[in-house]
Amino acid sequence: EKGGYDWFMLKEIEEQPQAVADTLLGRLTDSGEIMLDEVRLSDQDLRDVDKIFIVACGTAYHSGLVAKYAIEHWTRIPCEVELASEFRYRDPVLDRSTLIVVISQSGETMDTLMALRHAKEQKARVLAICNTNGSTIPRESDAVLYTHGGPEIAVASTKAFLTQLVACYLIGLHLAQVRGIKFADEVAAVVDQLHQMPGKLRELLSRIEPVRELARQIKSEPTVLFIGRHVGYPVALEGALKLKELAYMHAEGFAAGELKHGPIALIDKGTPVICIVPSPVGRGVLHDKVVSNIQEVRARGARTIVIAEEGDESVVRYADDLIYVPRTPTLLAPLVTTVPLQVLAAEIAAARGHDVDQPRNLAKSVTVE
Ligand code: M6R
Repeated sequence: EKGGYDWFMLKEIEEQPQAVADTLLGRLTDSGEIMLDEVRLSDQDLRDVDKIFIVACGTAYHSGLVAKYAIEHWTRIPCEVELASEFRYRDPVLDRSTLIVVISQSGETMDTLMALRHAKEQKARVLAICNTNGSTIPRESDAVLYTHGGPEIAVASTKAFLTQLVACYLIGLHLAQVRGIKFADEVAAVVDQLHQMPGKLRELLSRIEPVRELARQIKSEPTVLFIGRHVGYPVALEGALKLKELAYMHAEGFAAGELKHGPIALIDKGTPVICIVPSPVGRGVLHDKVVSNIQEVRARGARTIVIAEEGDESVVRYADDLIYVPRTPTLLAPLVTTVPLQVLAAEIAAARGHDVDQPRNLAKSVTVE
C-alpha cells in the first residue's frame, strides 16, 4: 500500500503534483470565480469583510502565514495569522465583518475547533480549509473549501501543506475578485501560474536526489538553522518543524533579518544554515537582502545550504550546497521551496534510524487541547 516506497511520507511527497492539480481542478474560472464546496456566505458577506484572521496549528499555521502575504497583497484586507491555541484565550476583537479562515487537514484538531466555536460565538463568519470530508471543523463552519490531497497517512504533513497553500491562494483571488480589486486578466495570470505548478513540482521531484546525499552528510549535526524573508520565512519555520518532528534534531527557523538581533550567535563552524532565497525577478531588494544574509552567516563559519530559483547565478559563490527549484513568482514560491525541505527531513530521519511515518510522541490528529 506504500506503492513501493519505504515510507508513506515519501509516497505523499511524490503525490504532491497530483494533489495540487486535484485541488485546482474545476475550482476557478478564468474570471476568478471559485467554487467553494459548501457556502453559506453570500458575495455581499465577502464584500463586507474588513478583517481576516487565519487560525490553525502546526503546519496548517505555516500555510496561513504564507497566505497572509498573498491575501493582503491581492485584497488589501488586513489579515492576521494566529495559532489556534493562543487565539481563543486572548479575547480577540471579532464581529460580523470579521472573516475567520480555519485551516486543518484532519478537520478534528481540538484547538482549531475551539477557536472556531469562539469566533462563531462572537458572530464572526468562518470559512474552513480542510482535507477531510464531513469532519467536525467543516461541519461547524459557514463555508468550506476542501483540499483534494487524498488521505495523508504519515504524521508529518506534506501534501496537505501544499494543497492548503493552493486553497488559500484561491480564496485570496476570489475575495479580490468579489470586491472588485483585481481585474480578470491579473487573476487569470496567477491562475495560469497555479496551473503550471503540478508540472514544476514533477520536474523538481525528478531531480531531488542530491538532497538525499545532503541528508546523509548533515544527519549528525547538533543544530540546523533555516532562514528566509517574506514568504520564505514561513517556509523556514516549516522546514525546521519537519526536522524537529521527524529527526528529533534541534532545528529553528528565523526571519533572516532577525539574525543580527540574536540568532547569529548560534552559528558555529560548520553549522548548516538552510537559506530560502526569493526570486530575483520582480522583488530584487528582497532577493539581495537574503543574499547578503547568506554572506553574513558564511562569514561566521556556517555551511550554507541555499535553495534558489533556477538560473539565479548570484548565489553560486556563497553556497556550499545549492538546490535549484523551478522559476516561480514570489508569492507562489513556497509551493516549490518547501519540497526539498520535506525530503531532507524524511531522509535525515531515515538515516538516523527513526520511524519516518510515526515519529515519537506525536499523533496524526490532535484531538485534545
Ligand atoms: O489536522 P490539522 O491540519 O489541524 O493538524 C495540525 C497540526 O497538528 C499538524 O499540521 C502537525 O503540525 C503536523 N504533524 C506537522 O507535520
